[in-house]
Amino acid sequence: MEYRNLLLETNDGITTLTINRPQVLNALNSDVVRELECALFGLNLDAAVKVVVLTGAGEKAFVAGADIKEMSEISSFDAHDFARRGQRLMLLINRMRKPVIAAVNGYALGGGLELALACDFIYASEKAKFGFPEVGLGVIPGFGGTQNLARLIGPNRANELMFSGRIITAAKAQAWGIVNELFAPEELLAKVLETAREIAGKGPLGVAYAKDAIASGLNMTKEDGFRYEASLFGVLFATGDQREGMGAFLEKRSAVFQGK
Ligand code: CAA
Repeated sequence: MEYRNLLLETNDGITTLTINRPQVLNALNSDVVRELECALFGLNLDAAVKVVVLTGAGEKAFVAGADIKEMSEISSFDAHDFARRGQRLMLLINRMRKPVIAAVNGYALGGGLELALACDFIYASEKAKFGFPEVGLGVIPGFGGTQNLARLIGPNRANELMFSGRIITAAKAQAWGIVNELFAPEELLAKVLETAREIAGKGPLGVAYAKDAIASGLNMTKEDGFRYEASLFGVLFATGDQREGMGAFLEKRSAVFQGK
């Protein structure tokens, strides 16, 4: 399928998905949201894809937010619909069977930060900048940011960031637990791909179930989460990946997983 706003490249089971509207700092208009949803839906079903890396085109931005020009003219009803479609995209990333890593190469603002937060973890350039400027536009984050940020870093820091609309440095975002690792801008993608390759070499079902256990468990009591974890653990013992992984360990060789 051809996309107007996305670039997709797959090598050795790792797909790099680049949002490609650098002239507007990769702002998310309704077309981009729709294309991202289609692309990620397809990648989720593609057995050849083990890890997805999400990044932005150009040197300046990951994504500088939802498209303000488009939003400035929409009705209240359409704004609600736009937020719900953005949130559906974030939930899709959350529910995908494969990891999605955000490679934040520049500004991650508003909807851009929401997109990065929906990913399984964030690696960023030392020059990246993070923030929720929405209150300065008279609105609030609408793609799940109020929920995801507060769950990730706690309400107090989320409140400070959102009420002030302040843009913070990559170092602060790392100190606050938004970003896992920082790299020099020119090294970022190579470092993300290194980690992606490490994950792609593991049992795909194990990785998918670990993602599911963590994501689902966050919405459960600890006891229910434990029960859910045990069910997934048990199911994995009916798979070839478990036999291959443990067999390879005992035979002192590398495992070759089939994701079955
Ligand atoms: N939407 C539409 N266009 C955008 C954009 C956005 N979010 N961010 C940047 N652009 C456009 C600019 O309008 C400009 O276009 P022109 O050349 O046609 O004027 C181009 O991208 C380059 O941007 P700047 O000239 O502004 O670049 P800068 O280096 O001076 O500033 C910036 C960079 C600080 C990121 C600034 O562009 C900025 O503040 N952008 C808006 C950030 C923002 O408010 N994001 C939140 C959007 S609301 C949201 O996301 C709601 C939600 O939760 C769903």
